[in-house]
Amino acid sequence: MSEYLVQFNNISKFFGKVIALKDVTMRLKKGEIMCLLGDNGAGKSTLIKTLAGVHKPDEGEIIFEDKNYF
Ligand SMILES: Nc1ncnc2c1ncn2[C@@H]1O[C@H](COP(=O)(O)OP(=O)(O)OP(=O)(O)O)[C@@H](O)[C@H]1O
Ligand SMILES: [Mg+2]
Repeated sequence: MSEYLVQFNNISKFFGKVIALKDVTMRLKKGEIMCLLGDNGAGKSTLIKTLAGVHKPDEGEIIFEDKNYF
């Protein structure tokens, strides 16, 4: 069992020519709280929507409880 509950590994998301996320890696342990900060348009909402399953990443992998989702 991995030490992480959720892993975002090298995630990228493109909207046409717009690079919303590029090579984002974020790993969270159970019970851990992470603060997501960034400028307007940095990709915060896109990152959370990808985590929630609204958007499918174009690159990278999402692992939750040791299961690959993408
Ligand atoms: N559905 C979409 N279609 C096209 N482009 C999008 C879409 N959603 C986000 N974008 C673009 O992706 C980039 C990241 O946007 P996002 O909304 O994730 O940023 P944000 O960090 O949440 O910004 P804010 O602080 O303004 O909420 C921006 O350039 C935005 O215009
Ligand atoms: Mg936002």
